[in-house]
Amino acid sequence: MMAGGGLKKYLPPVFAAGFLALYLGPAMAAPGDEENGEAIYAKRCLQCHGEDGDGLGPAAERLNPPPRDFTFGLYKFKSTPFDEDLPNDGDLLRMVRDGMPGTAMPGWSGLLNEQDMWDVIAYIKTFAELEGEPETQVDYGAQVATSAESIAAGKTLFHADDRCSECHGAEGKGDAIKKLKNDNGDRTWPRNLTKPWTFRASNDPKDVFNRITAGIPTTQMPSFADPKSKKKLSIEERWHVANYVTSLAKTEKVVRPANTVIQAARLEGEIPSSPEDPAWDAAPPSTFFMVPQIVGETRFFTAANDTLSVRALYNGDKIGLHLEWDDRTKSIPGDPKALSIADEDLTEDAVAVQFPVTLPAGMEKPYFLMGDAAKPVNLWRWSGGTTEEAESVAMIDAMGIAEQQMRDAGGLTAKSSYKAGTWRVVMTRPLITGAADQDLQFEEGRFIPIAFFAWDGSNGEAGSHHAMTTWYWLLLKPSASARPIIAAIAVTLLLGAILIWWGRSARTRAP
Ligand code: HEC
Ligand code: HEC
Repeated sequence: MMAGGGLKKYLPPVFAAGFLALYLGPAMAAPGDEENGEAIYAKRCLQCHGEDGDGLGPAAERLNPPPRDFTFGLYKFKSTPFDEDLPNDGDLLRMVRDGMPGTAMPGWSGLLNEQDMWDVIAYIKTFAELEGEPETQVDYGAQVATSAESIAAGKTLFHADDRCSECHGAEGKGDAIKKLKNDNGDRTWPRNLTKPWTFRASNDPKDVFNRITAGIPTTQMPSFADPKSKKKLSIEERWHVANYVTSLAKTEKVVRPANTVIQAARLEGEIPSSPEDPAWDAAPPSTFFMVPQIVGETRFFTAANDTLSVRALYNGDKIGLHLEWDDRTKSIPGDPKALSIADEDLTEDAVAVQFPVTLPAGMEKPYFLMGDAAKPVNLWRWSGGTTEEAESVAMIDAMGIAEQQMRDAGGLTAKSSYKAGTWRVVMTRPLITGAADQDLQFEEGRFIPIAFFAWDGSNGEAGSHHAMTTWYWLLLKPSASARPIIAAIAVTLLLGAILIWWGRSARTRAP
């Protein structure tokens, strides 16, 4: 009764504060009950952020990036100026409510109501004895609407003096070759700006403007509003750069969860052997999420690669697969430059395509992680090579993660290119090898299970430590050119029949 009444008294100002914080982001301290916040914290946040708010909860060890240490009172995604440590409560509410994509920090809107969120925010602020409201707010000036001119101006500023490209790379894929650590000594990676679904906040120009203005505290991402910065940008310039960053988002090669079938297009000529050949554009790309391999021993939680795009072409004899994925580092064991930015033992970058050995009759597929004794799989595995050895491709027969046999690649070929943070690999194989007991024999018009694996050598990925997809389907679409001919013949026959009928009935109608 009492608690209910107390809560009711609070509701109107809380809603008002929440509303304003969400839509205006003002420096408004929301009323939060620390005691209730402590209880919620113990139940929902402690396992990651730790009992003392130091980011050392029991689950923290496996997380990359690690959970925030609240005892410093420093937050990454704030809309207050670079020289103001205190975030707005609205900034914290947003991260707690929506979560932080690309990290383990979940969004809590489904489990906590808004009052609970204000309460837990009041509690986490006590770890650093944060009080009161920030004195200054970010000056947005007049937002510059996006346009071709603004994007072009932003692109120039992004590259001038290597301002952003120094860390985010020539095409914004976060592949600039530098080893970055946050204030805590943990390895951090500049964001791949072409993948907005990995942004902790968003790639809306206003959010990007905020990041450029305030920087990302505790990381190496600096403020470009700091008058002491040699690379300082005016308000207008920051809007141009923000518009440019927003324009970098991939639109074609994005994951469309409804798309589970890779359509292989039939080609009359040769399968293009170069990954950069524009002929690959004839096949539509399908993009899939990859997840860390956490089901088989030994498990691995912190895989670096997160998506892979594939295109497929085939002709009378061969199938060709074009694989493309962003990898910030070209990992060449033996190369001093590659070694200097690697995290752990440097291994080769690699990718593999998995097929069942025999096409299943129905929708039954082999176990997704390298098959089993009853349903073996083939892995076509490409490795990037070292300073001593060239790139290579191998055929692996697998009956589970512990049962792998490498054999002669037969007619399997692979060729790669690495450019501005993106690997592209083309693999080809004859459709029919004649050895149906060990190789998949491709057939037109059948749904063929297919799955993918990728290893980032600079992240110490090798063996069972990798990223992977679940099974998808590959479909060799029967020649499109045959269909219009059949349709044309059918129409001709139909027209003929109608004419004959018309002629006959005209004759009977005639007086
Ligand atoms: C499964 C682990 C996990 C749980 C549970 C969790 N967090 Fe987090 N949290 C993280 C990680 C990881 C980060 C750091 C992300 C980063 O640095 O980009 C984070 C960051 C934060 C931040 C920092 C935002 C910023 O801008 O710097 C806040 C605030 C936060 N968490 C609050 C909470 C609250 C409140 C709860 C409980 C209701 C909670 N977290 C539960 C993992 C977790
Ligand atoms: C010295 C290296 C460095 C420079 C220079 C740099 N950044 Fe970053 N940037 C980073 C790092 C590191 C992160 C990731 C921080 C984190 O979340 O841990 C990042 C993250 C970002 C994000 C992600 C925001 C989000 O919501 O997740 C954006 C956008 C961004 N940077 C834009 C820029 C722009 C634009 C410039 C140039 C004006 C720039 N950066 C210059 C290192 C840098």
